[in-house]
Amino acid sequence: MDFSEQSGSGEEVHNRRVGPAELKDPRFVDLSTGLWPELLSRFISGLPSIESRINALGPSLVREVTEPTHSFHAGIVSPQAGGLLGLIGGYCVLDEVEIHTFFLHPDWRNKGIGSSMFRRFLSGCHLSGISSVYLEVRSRSPAKQLYFRLGFRQSGIRKGYYGPEWSVDEQSDDAIVMVYTTGEMNDRPNMGERLMELLTVGLAGL
Ligand SMILES: CC(C)(COP(=O)(O)OP(=O)(O)OC[C@H]1O[C@@H](n2cnc3c(N)ncnc32)[C@H](O)[C@@H]1OP(=O)(O)O)[C@@H](O)C(=O)NCCC(=O)NCCS
Repeated sequence: MDFSEQSGSGEEVHNRRVGPAELKDPRFVDLSTGLWPELLSRFISGLPSIESRINALGPSLVREVTEPTHSFHAGIVSPQAGGLLGLIGGYCVLDEVEIHTFFLHPDWRNKGIGSSMFRRFLSGCHLSGISSVYLEVRSRSPAKQLYFRLGFRQSGIRKGYYGPEWSVDEQSDDAIVMVYTTGEMNDRPNMGERLMELLTVGLAGL
């Protein structure tokens, strides 16, 4: 698994990226199943309110998770970390995925986990025959660089799309529309189900 290592001292040690020896086997779970909706609800309640507000994590997301129509929500978990670390979720219609949520608990950011799990997610998209993955990111978000690194390109811009209530500094922001094209094509129905099966079972060992 692609965890980046970084060594150093002082501040750097505190922020040091976590290697596999420290966080073993993060994997995906299907949040619509079993106790996961309840655990997601608790995860959201435990977040700082600014995080849940600007990332649209609330009761409507939990409702959507329990009644998935074209939507998928893959929880990122690690037994070692004691449960849910974050999630990737969105919609899958025909052979296109649109990501609405990509979120890690603040305690687990900047340790290589997000990139690693997003790469695995993209592998799942390739294998399930998804042709394109779309997302929107705030123009000032550091996450934009992460998406460029993972192979996304900018496909558009929505001026002033995010109002002040959607940002930490209460400034409105443009949305950058990004797309990742897999080069795959498929005409199977239920691509979302196939994707979730691959993420939670087929790719579990990667
Ligand atoms: C985006 C996110 C899931 C990435 O996961 P991660 O494990 O922190 O990312 P990694 O450690 O693998 O990679 C670090 C990269 O993430 C991005 N990043 C770092 N901190 C971030 C933050 N607070 N918010 C958004 N992106 C961040 C940067 O591009 C960073 O790259 P850099 O090292 O070149 O600066 C996570 O930072 C997060 O949950 N952020 C808040 C929610 C968010 O902004 N989601 C994206 C919505 S489009």
